[in-house]
Amino acid sequence: MADAGYSQSMLESMRIVEQTRPRRMEEAFPRLEPEEKQQLLEQFHPDYRKDTTRQLRVGPNAGDRMPHELVDLLEARSRLDPESFQIEPWDYQTDVLVIGGGGAGSSAALTAAEAGVRVLLVTKLRLGDANTMMAQGGIQAADKPNDSPAIHYLDVMGGGGFVNDPVLVRALVRDAPFIIRWLEELGCMFTKEPDGTMITIHGGGTSRKRMHFARDYTGAEIMRTLRDEVRNRGLEVIEYSPAVELVLDDAGRCCGAVLWNLETGEYLTVQAKAVILATGGFGRLHVAGFPTTNHYGATADGLVMAYRAGASLRFLESTQFHPTGVAYPEQIVGLLVTEKVRGLGAQLVNARGEQFVYPLETRDAVSAAIIRECTHRGLGVTTPTGMQGVWLDSPMIDLIHGEGTIQRELPAMYRQYQRFGIDMSKHPILVYPTLHYQNGGVRIDEYGRTEVPGLYVAGETSGGVHGRNRLMGNSLLDILVFGRRAGRAAAEEVGSVRLGKPTLEHVRAYHRLLDEAGIETDRVSPMLLPDYLGKGARRS
Ligand code: FUM
Repeated sequence: MADAGYSQSMLESMRIVEQTRPRRMEEAFPRLEPEEKQQLLEQFHPDYRKDTTRQLRVGPNAGDRMPHELVDLLEARSRLDPESFQIEPWDYQTDVLVIGGGGAGSSAALTAAEAGVRVLLVTKLRLGDANTMMAQGGIQAADKPNDSPAIHYLDVMGGGGFVNDPVLVRALVRDAPFIIRWLEELGCMFTKEPDGTMITIHGGGTSRKRMHFARDYTGAEIMRTLRDEVRNRGLEVIEYSPAVELVLDDAGRCCGAVLWNLETGEYLTVQAKAVILATGGFGRLHVAGFPTTNHYGATADGLVMAYRAGASLRFLESTQFHPTGVAYPEQIVGLLVTEKVRGLGAQLVNARGEQFVYPLETRDAVSAAIIRECTHRGLGVTTPTGMQGVWLDSPMIDLIHGEGTIQRELPAMYRQYQRFGIDMSKHPILVYPTLHYQNGGVRIDEYGRTEVPGLYVAGETSGGVHGRNRLMGNSLLDILVFGRRAGRAAAEEVGSVRLGKPTLEHVRAYHRLLDEAGIETDRVSPMLLPDYLGKGARRS
């Protein structure tokens, strides 16, 4: 720990945490009553801050409040000039075009290909470079005798504030047990008892232990499995080629996309009878100035393209801040400390070594409680660079479950801290909320269909299933349930599709809306890569 660079005040506060630990080990912190939770959210959750959002001025959701960073992109112009861009001749032709190389895109592509249609998967970076790869804690499925999809349904609805789309939630929980079996058949290695029984644990807001996991690298294991499958089945994949615009035909049906080759700078056009957008979320927009757990490619590209094509959006006023992002050491600020750490018994404690929230409240409530401790009660811990955080008392895990549990159950997390001279099995770790998930997105039905004919959306780009707050382990589930559903539905549809003349008329119309709203900007979107120079992509 001498190497870890803690300040004197941090060391002093850590000593207090150690002193209060024996008492706290006996102490169960009460859960919040519904009214208390609502009050906490309204006072301290960033979603309720008026300065972080503004009204969108154009398109189907004009008037809705969304984060400034997203509105900036939705009110930007296309990278393409619709007056001069030549769509034909097409560079590629396929039946189903899948845009996105994470878990949703890969499962959509695999399922569409199984149905016997031609599939092309295109992705901005490499196949598997996505948030799926970074997911740690687990995937929910009600497949134990004391559980059922109906109980899972209630948990999802409760977690989302009872505003979730019930049709989507039903699809999510019903398909979940099948998804676990499918992954196992493909070779995904979940953590099991020596006799082969799948181990399941709690996540925040779950009433049953239904979190299946592969140590603390569940997403990496799932993505490894899917990526191997895409490669082994010989699916056609184009990497480093983000989509920059959808193409509609003269009847308003989505009939392809324009890609931009990141290496050569060329535009390439793809004709398809159905398009599945699975480009992930918006974490790298750093909403409200928060750091993020997200992959470099999470820049809301799908939202921008679908919206210009006429699809509507929902729940984008709400953003998920994961309560336990790294607050120290500075080199890894914002990275995820999996909820599994709390699932295994670690408590959240303030600078005085006191618990202040039940550790497995839903994420929105835990985040709000941490923010309250730091910004309102003055009970946060200050790092040498002036950041704030609270302690996650990780040594409790080995005390509860036996020495070596952390190294066995949380090997990735343990190594992440060891690289900076911190042994999380001996010392608590400092955490603060971090931007984790885009709760809302493009409106879809239970097959991933949007309001734009021929356009499907799956995974984090879509919105509705999680309402205003997703529960842990339902994102890895969502991408696979709706990736597969969209893949199957798109493949079934292509036999009857007759495409008309391809156009970018929707882009021209969107530009007109911007002009009519008096929005003058030289910003272009989708953003494609995060804007760390603060300049934004501009028209040259
Ligand atoms: O805390 C976590 O491991 C995150 C899981 C999730 O967002 O589903």
